[in-house]
Amino acid sequence: MKVLAIESSCDETSVAVLEDGREVLSNVIATQINTHKKFGGVVPEVASRQHVEAINVVLKEAIDEAGVDLSEIDLVAATKGPGLIGALLVGLSAGKTIAMSMNKPFVGVNHIVGHVCANYISFKDLEPPFIGLIISGGHTYLIEVNDYVDFTLHGRTQDDAVGEAFDKVARSLGLEYPGGPIIDRLAKEGKDTIEFPRVMIKENNYDFSFSGLKTAVLNYLNSKRQKGEEIVKEDVCKSFEEAVVDVLIEKTFRLANEKNIDKIVLSGGVSANSRIREAFNERAKDEDKKIFYPELKLCTDNAAMIGSAGYYLYKAGKVDKENFANPNLGLD
Ligand code: KG4
Ligand code: ZN
Repeated sequence: MKVLAIESSCDETSVAVLEDGREVLSNVIATQINTHKKFGGVVPEVASRQHVEAINVVLKEAIDEAGVDLSEIDLVAATKGPGLIGALLVGLSAGKTIAMSMNKPFVGVNHIVGHVCANYISFKDLEPPFIGLIISGGHTYLIEVNDYVDFTLHGRTQDDAVGEAFDKVARSLGLEYPGGPIIDRLAKEGKDTIEFPRVMIKENNYDFSFSGLKTAVLNYLNSKRQKGEEIVKEDVCKSFEEAVVDVLIEKTFRLANEKNIDKIVLSGGVSANSRIREAFNERAKDEDKKIFYPELKLCTDNAAMIGSAGYYLYKAGKVDKENFANPNLGLD
């Protein structure tokens, strides 16, 4: 089954063609990051306009690169939420229009589920059940993936998403948007010398909170600046990163042990972080668990992951007839 997939929930316009949910024939991504950099974050209206400009070009490129004709497509999938409403509408309308005009089925996909499914592309033998940790710019969820289309939500952030904390800390250090990859790089040269809080680590639940950690970093920086003391950016990055890693690991492994599940699957933009990957792998060795995370290109937003999720939804007969854009779509 050939799936044409479209992703436009935030600042990437992406179109992919997949064979049977796991084989990528093309995955074209047009990023708007350079446009939003000068504003220090994504400007929704600018994002919508850029999606409109990019969508047809990206679509054509994806079809050409896959070496298929539109008439050979069996299913069209597009992100229906969560995300920026104007941005979502561009990809969703394009997807529905193609499906309708070609008389093909259409499936609207939850972007968060898409992130998890990126792993099915990177690991051809990976199958549920597993524990899923989704860490991106907008989302932080700890779930049990019972089946391709069935999830149990165990925890989520109560305030900022992990990636949001990375980006805000980076901004306060005067680093460019998106700050996650820059913090990743600087932290490698830093020392874990500053004691930042491990918020909610001991609490008897699977929720997270990153806004307190972000505030602690900002307070540290303000106090240093007021006293005229030197700020070692690398050490701030490393200490912040370790505080994030500790809570993510503690809660994820606790859930995996409670449920007696040995596969832990990371996804979302922040799963590109090299220290997070390393720390999960180290802990997994001690506890006899297996860690999965997608190849770098599939960690951040892309249409291939949406195609994979769309394929499994369609196969399970879980096709929502209405498919309205929903900026606040969650996992519950
Ligand atoms: O999944 P994604 O592309 O978009 C959302 O669905 O939100 O994630 C983007 C987020 C940004 O916050 C970015 O700073 C973060 O992923 N990110 C990273 C790294 N690469 C991207 N954070 C930490 N370390 C990285 N290497
Ligand atoms: Zn995303």
